[in-house]
Amino acid sequence: ANDSEMQLIRIHEYLTDLYHHILMHTKEGEGALKYLEDRGFSGDIIRKEKIGIAPDMRDFTKNALSDKGFSLELAFQAGVISRNEENFSYYDRFSGRIMIPIRNHQGYIVGYTARSMDGREPKYLNTPETSIFQKRRLLYNLSDARKDIRKQDEVILMEGHLDIIKVKMTDVNNVIGLMGTALSEQHIQVLNRLASNVTLMFDGDQAGQNAQLSLGADLLEGGLNVFIISMPKGMDPDEYIEKYGAEVFRNLVKNEKRHYIHFKAEHLLEESMNNDMAFSNNLKMLTDHLKHVKDQVIRERLIQHISQLYKVDRKSIEQNVPNQAPPT
Ligand code: CTP
Ligand code: MN
Ligand code: MN
Ligand code: MN
Ligand code: MN
Repeated sequence: ANDSEMQLIRIHEYLTDLYHHILMHTKEGEGALKYLEDRGFSGDIIRKEKIGIAPDMRDFTKNALSDKGFSLELAFQAGVISRNEENFSYYDRFSGRIMIPIRNHQGYIVGYTARSMDGREPKYLNTPETSIFQKRRLLYNLSDARKDIRKQDEVILMEGHLDIIKVKMTDVNNVIGLMGTALSEQHIQVLNRLASNVTLMFDGDQAGQNAQLSLGADLLEGGLNVFIISMPKGMDPDEYIEKYGAEVFRNLVKNEKRHYIHFKAEHLLEESMNNDMAFSNNLKMLTDHLKHVKDQVIRERLIQHISQLYKVDRKSIEQNVPNQAPPT
């Protein structure tokens, strides 16, 4: 980070400590601390992640920054306060929200995702795009997960920040998240340099499933091996851990990984069997995906599985898949 970026980072370091202190040690933090404890977040993880609370006031953050000698113009550029565009006065952006710090890949805090606790919309308010907070570059929790990702040659991608934090409590540490659901070219590049395998573990709802199907195809075409862990209907990893515990979760992560193409073949099967045009299109799509599977053993296995599921001769699938996947 250069000098002007470091100035914005210092604002985040200061505010993060302040919000965390208010959460842990003041009356104003009691409600939020209870909320987090009721959701199963331990004191240890709250301290480790430096989770905090932004007081529900219009000028608290603004005044705290001024008092400390920070420039409000810079704080606005950092995205931690808002500006009234009619009279250019500043006011707090994240009032009354639980503050989850977001670190860049070097480990510096560069933004927040901020959750409301009282049903206020939006549920999550994020730092806007700034010079140090760029959603297309950032992968949440990467600075902390990097070592484990390398060691295991696998990264687990999840939807929610609180899912990731809860999962870290189970000692599964190779987890990261996107800021939103858009996967960029830069993300794919970073992932490729880190590991060969990406496992998607999104929420067990329609949105999560659609995101998995779409991101999985992009990752596969980007040269990664893609696996899916399916959540039970209506659950996300955080809820799963609360319901079944850390041990059951660790077993799920260890034992329930299906290849993306396997998952998709099953997902598309019913439609394919009732609709001949869909059958042909879906089989073409699966065959096209197979071209990106570099590992010959896995490719063989997938071809066999698809030929059984779709009741087609495996040779007719193999004909359309080159023996060696093209370099990506
Ligand atoms: N999200 C968002 N804005 C919203 C809702 C969701 O930015 N209004 C993003 C957040 O990054 C969120 C993710 O989408 O973490 C998944 O959404 P959801 O499953 O609704 O939230 P959870 O992560 O499960 O959060 P919680 O458990 O606190 O409800
Ligand atoms: Mn969801
Ligand atoms: Mn959740
Ligand atoms: Mn969720
Ligand atoms: Mn199967």
